[in-house]
Amino acid sequence: MQKTFAIIKPDAVAAGNAGNILALIEKSGFKVLAMRMQRLSRAEAEGFYAVHKERPFFGELVEFMTEGPVVLLALEREDAVAKWREVMGATDPAKADEGTVRKLYGTNVGRNASHGSDSPENAAIELAWFFRASELS
Ligand code: RTP
Ligand code: MG
Repeated sequence: MQKTFAIIKPDAVAAGNAGNILALIEKSGFKVLAMRMQRLSRAEAEGFYAVHKERPFFGELVEFMTEGPVVLLALEREDAVAKWREVMGATDPAKADEGTVRKLYGTNVGRNASHGSDSPENAAIELAWFFRASELS
């Protein structure tokens, strides 16, 4: 069993797609260990995406991630990190496979409906950023 961290981003929450995405997560065999709806502060969004701070889209990304509430999720299943990235689809919804979260609910490469950790190591860091250890078992 492996854990990963997911965010239903502000575009998807505002469009009323959080429930559909949660249903897809459950149908894909994930156990939801923890879940919270919250509006990220600027500091939280900047810290969370600090790895991208030199990228030209960083300002836009922080604006987007703080524009409204998100849903934070701790997910568990076998091979959770890779499987959730597969269910999300490619970063750019135009390049994402049919039936993926980003194809179904994303708008463009920036406003792409969901986040997923990119490695088990980063999943552990990201889960610890948003959840207490006691919420993750
Ligand atoms: P994420 O971290 O959100 O799961 O997405 P990812 O791994 O598929 O993509 P990453 O390269 O880590 O980019 C993080 C987020 O930044 C926004 N982005 N905008 N305007 C652009 O060219 C651009 N490129 C990336 C997206 O919201 C992307 O998910
Ligand atoms: Mg990423």
